[in-house]
Amino acid sequence: MIPSIEWIDNKVKMIDQTVLPHELKFLEFEDFRDVAISIKLMNIRGAPAIGVAAAMGMALATIEYKELPKSEFLKRMEEAAEVIKKTRPTASNLFWAVDRIWKIISSYPDNPSSLSDLVVEEAKLMAQEDINVNKNIGKNGAELLEDGDVVLTHCNAGSLATVQYGTALAPVRSAIAQGKKISVIADETRPRLQGARLTAYELQYDKIPVNVISDTSSGLMMRLGKVNKVIVGTDRVTSDAVFNKIGTYLVALAAKDNNIPFYVAAPTSTLSLDETVDDVIIEQRDSTEVSNVLGKVQIVPDGVECLNYAFDITPFRLVTGIITEDGVYTPEELLKKYK
Ligand code: MRU
Repeated sequence: MIPSIEWIDNKVKMIDQTVLPHELKFLEFEDFRDVAISIKLMNIRGAPAIGVAAAMGMALATIEYKELPKSEFLKRMEEAAEVIKKTRPTASNLFWAVDRIWKIISSYPDNPSSLSDLVVEEAKLMAQEDINVNKNIGKNGAELLEDGDVVLTHCNAGSLATVQYGTALAPVRSAIAQGKKISVIADETRPRLQGARLTAYELQYDKIPVNVISDTSSGLMMRLGKVNKVIVGTDRVTSDAVFNKIGTYLVALAAKDNNIPFYVAAPTSTLSLDETVDDVIIEQRDSTEVSNVLGKVQIVPDGVECLNYAFDITPFRLVTGIITEDGVYTPEELLKKYK
């Protein structure tokens, strides 16, 4: 799959994920405010991808403000950081990325113009690092997969959710590159259908076998012996749980009940191990995402308000292992290593 986001000639170029799988369309932005809107509207989505988008948004802001005196520059950059941080509340990577850029801004004593060059370079580096991290997740996760395995995944934690290669789909890509025969079952992932639209699109693009199922089918697929392993991505890992796309918890429960290993692919930029579940804001999105399929056909009676929580909480007791760029860990080992 081609990169979902790139920095080209002082512009941010991204795949518009809202029109996939029907159209492969690109958006280009020179204004950080437009990047913030694209995160909010989910033209770009997936925790690592929105982290890189946030960093590139900050880089665009430094270009816009670099002629200002340093104090004014800093004031405007604080406002830009706030705009970007307010786009989506749950994925750690967004805050991690803005904070990483902020460290450079606050520690650099020179003029805003040369600082802007540094921030642009850092944002580009973060994009490249994301690909490297994902390849290492792939290498570590591929060890868990055996020839012939069918991997069930929820939402899209693939190339499109990152800069390239993916997190949950990285072990699948790496295992296939090692010569193993692996196929994927993708939950459709209501209401935004990231599994049906995006996971299926990118796997088909890369000629990796994939079947899409309705979200309500995953338990039966496990019961029928059609799933060997579950691998999902994550938006935030706290000291007690994994936050991921709504529906992940139910998949984890079904996996436990059917003795199927449930793995979470998590770049370390997603770890927020000083927090517990009570510290995290679960994003609630517009009711119409649930009431109207893909914003079009209304499926509930007029006047009925739908509840639309975007993420849920999977407690550590349901997690077999967490695959990071450094290795595969039980939740207890993860806490020991990174906390
Ligand atoms: O609402 P989304 O599409 O941004 O949610 C994405 C997910 O839940 C992914 O599983 C998660 O961000 C991990 S992506 C590598």
